Amino acid sequence: MLRHSVLLKACTPCRWASTIIKPWYITTPIFYPNAVPHIGHLYSLVTADIFARYHALKNPLRPVSFVTGTDEHGLKIQKAALNKGLPPKEFCDAISLQFRKLAHEADVNFTRFIRTSEEAHYTSVEHVWRQLDKLGLIYKGSYSGWYSITDECFYTDSQIVHIAEEGHTPARTVSKETGATVEYSSEINYMFRLSQFREALLEHYSSDPESVVPLAHHAHLVSILQSPLEDISISRPRSRLSWGIPVPNDPDHTVYVWFDALISYLTAIGYPWPNSGVSQGWPVDMQIIGKDIVRFHTVYLPAVLLALKLPLQRQILAHAHWTSSQKKMSKSLGNTTDPFQAIKEFGIDSVRYYLAKVGGRFQDDVDWSHVQVTKHDKELQAVLGNLYMRITSPAIASRMAPECSASDREPFIPLLEASKALPSVLSNYMDKVNVADALEAIMDVLRLANKCLTDAAPWKSSPEVARASYDSCLESLRVSGICLQPFMPRVAGKLLDALGVSPAERSWINGQVGSIGDVVAGVRLFPAVSK
Ligand code: MSP
Repeated sequence: MLRHSVLLKACTPCRWASTIIKPWYITTPIFYPNAVPHIGHLYSLVTADIFARYHALKNPLRPVSFVTGTDEHGLKIQKAALNKGLPPKEFCDAISLQFRKLAHEADVNFTRFIRTSEEAHYTSVEHVWRQLDKLGLIYKGSYSGWYSITDECFYTDSQIVHIAEEGHTPARTVSKETGATVEYSSEINYMFRLSQFREALLEHYSSDPESVVPLAHHAHLVSILQSPLEDISISRPRSRLSWGIPVPNDPDHTVYVWFDALISYLTAIGYPWPNSGVSQGWPVDMQIIGKDIVRFHTVYLPAVLLALKLPLQRQILAHAHWTSSQKKMSKSLGNTTDPFQAIKEFGIDSVRYYLAKVGGRFQDDVDWSHVQVTKHDKELQAVLGNLYMRITSPAIASRMAPECSASDREPFIPLLEASKALPSVLSNYMDKVNVADALEAIMDVLRLANKCLTDAAPWKSSPEVARASYDSCLESLRVSGICLQPFMPRVAGKLLDALGVSPAERSWINGQVGSIGDVVAGVRLFPAVSK
């Protein structure tokens, strides 16, 4: 559905000329394949997929580029591979495949899966490095400070704390923000002149309050950009870090994993662009990231983009985290939820429903609870599955009149109005980056349909009332099915198939005008899953 032709033909007096439409470009972070994916990773993938599908649905002529992938270099991977006794590339091959498999099982329709170990990415990173070097923005300096392998991040003295623990001498030193262990290092590194970009960044963010959402992240960013930015280290000595991209012309140094990783968003759409630097895909329209990696995406990457004279990302959505019994779900704490297991147990539609409905406001951390997923799964089946089953039941079909009067239809007017308004209500929420309420708006229409149906009781009312109920409820199911496609593409597809809505009549404009075909009763919308 997301793969459209990039070229549209436009007629000119003498020949066909090609007009290139820039794809709508969305990314997830590229994931560390040091361990198998957990539910937090699935959340980033599903969130991006919802926006990608929504944009494809609304603008069927505009292609969508949707990039995800794995971030394979760095000390964290080097260490994990060593622990398993495997060469890093071989180690990454297996786990990278798990992320790809998860995306497939979750109906995440990416268009490009990038791995930073790809040759094309080496070329891209080397190109960026050389450009920045040519501009005098890279210099060799001595770096002393703290490094966390878990976070793959440098910290200054003010960002760490020494904690005394019983039985541990000397005291452990950790990052104040993440609690991850840090180690002191003093080494010769290549530095990037980040400090030169503070004013330009501040100007950019101050002029566009929606460039980073939710708002609190934007406010924080603007506040940190009031103070000077320090230059950052962008390499590690090869003696410490061998698994990475060698610094061009200096193989004793390896490119810092974050510098390498952030450039993947450019590599994935063909950077360095052929034909004298013209890109068909940049800038990225929306980047989905977790709240722990905001600085990398809102300060470091944009500074590099400014240096390269490339436009900045249009919007960054920094989501909150999933917790498990109120504790951050993470590989190192060992309290993660296996997304494959969740899909097996509840089916992908219910898992996507829970992620989007509970996590779709993005502001506060939310808890993954088995009891709550079960509750949401039941709710979805009761509201959507039940409505379809009730209205297509033989009890109504067998007694329905071929036509009915305006007065028979009257009780259903609020339902038909709510159905007609649904696409624009949903768009308003999506424009405000509020997936949870967009989804809730669809559920509200379906709830209203269930209520109207119960009130009208067409299985025992007149054949005309049965007709009015049937037409009105099917219309609300048709519109809801179209609107549900970005959120739960699988069940939405099954529903629209069952209603006989042709694939050509499933786009956004059909939310207003469209028709159903031969309705099939008794289709199982939700799979019988292992509960
Ligand atoms: N490799 C870097 C990203 C580089 S992007 C150029 C990275 N990888 S990660 O695997 O550690 O995390 C990937 C994403 O998953 C991040 O956005 C992170 O916030 C998100 N999550 C990790 N744990 C999470 C939860 N418990 N809940 C929600 N998202 C979580 O960082």
